[in-house]
Amino acid sequence: MPDQNLQSVLEVLYYGHSPTMAELEYMLAPNKNGSVRQMMQLADEVRSRHVGDGVVLRGIVEFSNICQSTCAYCGLNKFNTKPPRYQMTREQILEAVNDIAEAGIKTVVLQSGQNIHMDPFWLARVIEDIKHEFDMAVTLSVGERRTEEYLLWKQSGADRYLLKIETTNPGLYGLLHPGMSIENRFRCLHDLKNTGYQTGSGSIVGLKNQTCADLAKDLLFFQKENFDMLGIGPFIPHPETSLADEPCGDLELTLRMLSLTRILTKDTHLPATTAVGVAGSNDALGLALAAGANVIMLNFTPPAYQKLYEIYPGRENSESLSNRIINELENIAENLGRYISYSRADSLKYCNKNMPQKKALVDEH
Ligand code: 5AD
Repeated sequence: MPDQNLQSVLEVLYYGHSPTMAELEYMLAPNKNGSVRQMMQLADEVRSRHVGDGVVLRGIVEFSNICQSTCAYCGLNKFNTKPPRYQMTREQILEAVNDIAEAGIKTVVLQSGQNIHMDPFWLARVIEDIKHEFDMAVTLSVGERRTEEYLLWKQSGADRYLLKIETTNPGLYGLLHPGMSIENRFRCLHDLKNTGYQTGSGSIVGLKNQTCADLAKDLLFFQKENFDMLGIGPFIPHPETSLADEPCGDLELTLRMLSLTRILTKDTHLPATTAVGVAGSNDALGLALAAGANVIMLNFTPPAYQKLYEIYPGRENSESLSNRIINELENIAENLGRYISYSRADSLKYCNKNMPQKKALVDEH
């Protein structure tokens, strides 16, 4: 039996009205029988209408695990002395990008730890080489950097940037990120948008001491900032961090967050994150796709390095590169009435913001 109260709140969101904190908290709270299904159904409809039925593939290259940050949840934090630290060469990165191109995928995500010693001009050259050799969108995910560096990489041809806020609760943010400030995170996100990047953010669900009110505020933040992409994934404890003994983020709560993000933000690109697969059942990927997600990231990092890039455990089982994986994804998509898309899939918001004539044409017809 659908919860009528929930249905009426969901409809308010569906028609584009801003929700109150109380409404969002009500929808995030557990123990309402079947309500997560109700939310997923609506999110799926919004997804179909605003971004279509394609499940877009992106290729990720984790080119370095060197990191000077101390994020409490992350296995790459500098206090974890176990994994040897690596940095791929420009040639190795180009080889991995070639594999992505051969798989027919049109986006490479270049991700690394937050390494203040990484030479920005070296990365600029890598971006230029990729743009010169391949017809591919370049997404960066290398953390908090200076305004000028963001500008340099944009001018070198980078198209997109991912920087999750992780949590919008300033107190919780401070506890989880010693030595960092949420103000600088906001500064980076605004710099990225102002520089013209298609900008992605997102949060971790199920962090220690995180409440439904915190998650509701994250949702309002996503809506207000109009991000082009949003990554929502559950917390996974890493044994070599201070949060090792904390429980995994709840899969159902993650699905609620994902669904609400889709319903609220409409045409954002939302990945079915690997963490969802780690926290949940075998079918978790399918569940995330049914809860509004429309993007999957495949890992093209050479296997020897992939093992050393352990932001959270369990990743190597759920993502590795093979035709088997792509075949499996095709089956999962087909079962949901979807298909795997090899399009570049630029931000729909960005296209509308930056090509006013095109938008006008669409609006006129
Ligand atoms: N659990 C879940 N997500 C994590 N990330 C890092 N560590 C963890 C963890 N233990 C996510 C963060 C970061 C992204 C690269 O990985 O959200 O932005």
